[in-house]
Amino acid sequence: MNYIVKDENALFYECGYSCDNAIFLKLGDDSFFITDGRYTVDAKENIKNTRVIQSQNLIQEVRFLIRKSNIKKLYYDPKEWNTYEFNLLKNKLNRVSFFAKVDFSKLKRAIKSNDEIKIIKQAVKLGRDGFKKFAKYLKNSGELKSEEFLQYKLKSILSSFGELELSFEPIVAINKNSAKPHATPSKGVLQNGDLILVDAGVKYKRYCSDRTRSSLFNNKITFKENQKFSKKKRQKIYDTVLKAHDEAITKAKSGMRAFEIDKIARDVIDKAGFAKFFVHSTGHGVGLNIHEYPFISAKSDMLIEDHMVFTIEPGIYIPNEFGIRIEDMIVMKNGVARIL
Ligand code: GLY
Ligand code: MN
Repeated sequence: MNYIVKDENALFYECGYSCDNAIFLKLGDDSFFITDGRYTVDAKENIKNTRVIQSQNLIQEVRFLIRKSNIKKLYYDPKEWNTYEFNLLKNKLNRVSFFAKVDFSKLKRAIKSNDEIKIIKQAVKLGRDGFKKFAKYLKNSGELKSEEFLQYKLKSILSSFGELELSFEPIVAINKNSAKPHATPSKGVLQNGDLILVDAGVKYKRYCSDRTRSSLFNNKITFKENQKFSKKKRQKIYDTVLKAHDEAITKAKSGMRAFEIDKIARDVIDKAGFAKFFVHSTGHGVGLNIHEYPFISAKSDMLIEDHMVFTIEPGIYIPNEFGIRIEDMIVMKNGVARIL
């Protein structure tokens, strides 16, 4: 298959290197990485089995290579190209049929290799260690700190003061703010007995981790799953979300469709009477992108297969009161889901 990609994670997946101005071209057995002079030396040092070409006009160079190759068909992802660039690319290349294949690079990445799973496991471990360190910080110094400050602190701790990149801007939300699934941090401060939701992840060798915990804050705070809230409603909702999370993980099987896994979690929440407060899908694939295939949603009929890696993260959000989400990453292995 002849194809062209330029998304950074797609570039990295193809040849182990990426930069913010490059195109990867696969023409028969030949691979080309076309970039500008700022990156060519670095690219040549890091890329194997792909010819690195320096050009001041990447699209012109790509057109030249395509013409020279005599290929008839070229696949591209229409989400990667704006109309201006795409028109420049195909202008007068009448001999070549351009086939739009949405997300073809991301779809290729839905099933992970053993090496990728090892790397992701390490990303998850580093993320989990960061949560433990953050719990320790909260225990000793969290009281009366604002969400804004706690988010800053979480970023420093998770990244080991800049050593690791984060998978995304982490979420720290207290009480009412946790009712917004993706809350922006406020100036509200953390007090004894509050509920704190933390959603964060780190990258290891470019692969992401993702984890959410909802915990009771006091001087014994942990991010373990056995949380005991003094308020009955919080406990009931916490237990419901945990049950949805656990059932989805124990009942997920390779060979199911993604929507069936979503339904397992949704049914638990529905039965407890909170259906309308579960406002997002049950999970998403994780890899080079924080959100990738398979999407574990009611709309996705993607086949679940061994070596897929995805999150299970049901949640219940009561507006103006609080929200609970519990998220873990799993890998499908020998037909079943294993928590990473
Ligand atoms: N953990 C952030 C998200 O999944 O959207
Ligand atoms: Mn997630």
